[in-house]
Amino acid sequence: MKIKNTISLILMTLGIILVLVGMVAKNLPSRDMSVDTGNKINGELPIPVLLEDENPEDGVSDFTLNAAEGFTDFYENSITPTMGYNGTFLGPVIKVRKGDQVNMHVNNQLSDSTSVHWHGLEVEGTVDGGPLQVIKKGGTWDPSFTVSQPAATLWFHPHVMGSTATQVYYGLAGMLIVEDEESDALNIPKEYGVNDIPLILQDRSFNEDGSFYYGTSMMMMDGMIGETLLVNGAITPNLTVEQVKMRFRILNGSNARNYNLRLEGGESFHQIASDGGFLEDPVIMDSLLITPGERAEVIVDFSQFKKGQTVHLMSGREKVMTFKIGDPGQDDTVIPEKLTEIEPFREEDALKEKVIVLDGSGHMVSINGKQFDINRIDDQVVKDTLEVWEITTSGQMMMGGAGHPFHIHSTQFQILSRNGKIPELNERGWKDTVFVGKNERVRLLVQFKHTGLFMYHCHILEHEEEGMMGQFEVTEN
Ligand code: C2O
Ligand code: CU
Ligand code: CU
Repeated sequence: MKIKNTISLILMTLGIILVLVGMVAKNLPSRDMSVDTGNKINGELPIPVLLEDENPEDGVSDFTLNAAEGFTDFYENSITPTMGYNGTFLGPVIKVRKGDQVNMHVNNQLSDSTSVHWHGLEVEGTVDGGPLQVIKKGGTWDPSFTVSQPAATLWFHPHVMGSTATQVYYGLAGMLIVEDEESDALNIPKEYGVNDIPLILQDRSFNEDGSFYYGTSMMMMDGMIGETLLVNGAITPNLTVEQVKMRFRILNGSNARNYNLRLEGGESFHQIASDGGFLEDPVIMDSLLITPGERAEVIVDFSQFKKGQTVHLMSGREKVMTFKIGDPGQDDTVIPEKLTEIEPFREEDALKEKVIVLDGSGHMVSINGKQFDINRIDDQVVKDTLEVWEITTSGQMMMGGAGHPFHIHSTQFQILSRNGKIPELNERGWKDTVFVGKNERVRLLVQFKHTGLFMYHCHILEHEEEGMMGQFEVTEN
């Protein structure tokens, strides 16, 4: 016992010395920063920790997020300056319950201003965490809200003018899970980290020295597309799965890349949730398009594979990650026929109609001919009233312009139609981000339950930064 302790102490000290020597050798700032030296290439899929609720009281939760800079080892022999929440890259998963009061405590330990936006959460404007709630360097922010929406996979990320795209790229993002009585009652895979797994999809480019490459050239007109795919902050990782049903909460946390996901053999899977929660019925799919900001929950039944098999998750022709098939395992979960009830909004109940034209491509983008101005309110909406928002694209030239993932804060909307047709089965649930392809016309039924100032924008983060964002105010009447 004693000898073991001494050895581990020596090893730990050696480890620390090695890291310090490494930092000096690379001329990196020797500030008080955390370093993650876990190698992240073709390794095990990292599962983000569940953030501890500091409040023992039932019905109230307190969570602390520290946004800080650090270093992460993606490749051997190189170290990448990164940013993370409570760690060096990405953040923990925050789990909240419908009906609970949640008190967030955010500390900004970055050398720059930031903000934390709760993407998909229906809350008052003052706690939304958009560009109006800047947390200065060294500052703190303590928003409180009551969770009033059904079980869903949401997320959080910075939203500060001029630095959103880079801060997300450097690693600031995390998943926010809402649970409720309905999600408790369903006999679907729901054991976090066991058969309920978050998959945060991102892409990055690296310089020779291991640092991230960030730049949008003419070649990368519509946002930063990285050369390397990351899942939960690891490069093409592996997940060993038993031959059971597994649920994946997929988040496209990339700045600009769309993923067209499929299992390499074309095997089908079930989509059970979209951005804002469960679909009414599971939808059988063999590929899934997920654009920046969107989430999808899917169940893959691995009992169709054999022990020792490897199954790649692909996006187009690129490998995203690998499932290694393990033992038969025990599985009493089901894919229910009915997941939830969604009361459809009715077009005839809409009081107003707004037209939103996403203009341009590349670095020249705007909405309805205007670039974002924090001092201008573009639209007014009355709380609890239904509106039709028609989203179209215009002026996408040359090679650019694959389309725009359009996102609205503080709401879960319904898609009324896509190009005049009823949307696909997996787009008939709650959404907060919708892809509007080139020359498409997507009509939404939108309603807000909370007042305040909010944003709508393209979730290609470089388009957002370049002005493809508008501001609207929700008022009592
Ligand atoms: Cu996910 Cu306004 O953003
Ligand atoms: Cu948002
Ligand atoms: Cu866009």
